[in-house]
Amino acid sequence: ISEIARVKNLNRLQIGKHEVDAWYFSPYPKEYAHLPILYICEFCLSFFPSPMMLSRHRLRCTLLHPPGNEIYRCEEISFYEIDGKRQLTWCRNLSLLSKCFLDHKTLYYDVTPFMYYVMCQRDSTGCHIIGYFSKEKESADSYNVACILTLPQHQRGGYGKLLIEFSYELSKKEGKLGSPEKPLSDLGLLGYRSYWADTILELLMSLEPDGEMSIDDIAQRTSITHADVTNTCATLGLFKHYKGSHIICLNEAVVARYEKARTKRKRRIKPEHLRWKPPV
Ligand code: COA
Ligand code: NA
Repeated sequence: ISEIARVKNLNRLQIGKHEVDAWYFSPYPKEYAHLPILYICEFCLSFFPSPMMLSRHRLRCTLLHPPGNEIYRCEEISFYEIDGKRQLTWCRNLSLLSKCFLDHKTLYYDVTPFMYYVMCQRDSTGCHIIGYFSKEKESADSYNVACILTLPQHQRGGYGKLLIEFSYELSKKEGKLGSPEKPLSDLGLLGYRSYWADTILELLMSLEPDGEMSIDDIAQRTSITHADVTNTCATLGLFKHYKGSHIICLNEAVVARYEKARTKRKRRIKPEHLRWKPPV
């Protein structure tokens, strides 16, 4: 029976003005599980079996942004910090929603050990959720991200890398190196590999022509762990033998890659707009 229950249950979800397919099983209560469309309030993330019940709810629901502190605002992008312990229902609803697009992560019913960093796009009708990542309040493994998600209707627009960039800006403020929790999904790995490569190349390109930088220097400047820096440099073919040791050396292919990524990547985090101290 538990096997059957794990088969993808929901078909489609309506979130704000978007309708999307669910990818994987999510443990919504069973009376909601086999509806053709589940209707989700895009602000409080409560779920309803019919458009009528959602619109009745919308008359009463006063939320126009996630229930936490706005810690970043630049142009139309805002980030909110939400404590799982203080916003149990909202964070459980977020977990249920995101499980629809994650197959391997255990769903955390216990949201209390996590902080949630929710990225929104602001317009005259409210702060619309685009994606989020969760982060353990205390991570023994120095993970700086537990789960990360861009809602499907917003994927492939550069928002995933914006979330990742934000997670490393938080690590910089903490004075720590961080890495995402393993295992990563295929899509997660694509996003991270691309972010690591962009970030390391950007830093190396900013050096003077005869400048030097070690793995440790790169890690300290970017908050990317030594293992992730080393793997990325190896993948990019940056290590060369020189007088009996390894040095990092840029080649034409990576310089071309860097130029291409730089013109393509329009969305960036501006660290001066982050108003945040590590939670105590
Ligand atoms: N196929 C191929 N490449 C893809 C891709 C796809 N479906 N989706 C993203 N990418 C690549 C992009 O091309 C980009 O690389 P580039 O800048 O070098 O071209 C990189 O991945 C990041 O793209 P971006 O648009 O910034 O990311 P996104 O907003 O689509 O979000 C995830 C990326 C991982 C957050 C998103 O796919 C997601 O939410 N997946 C479901 C949840 C999940 O698996 N989370 C990770 C595990 S916890
Ligand atoms: Na309302």
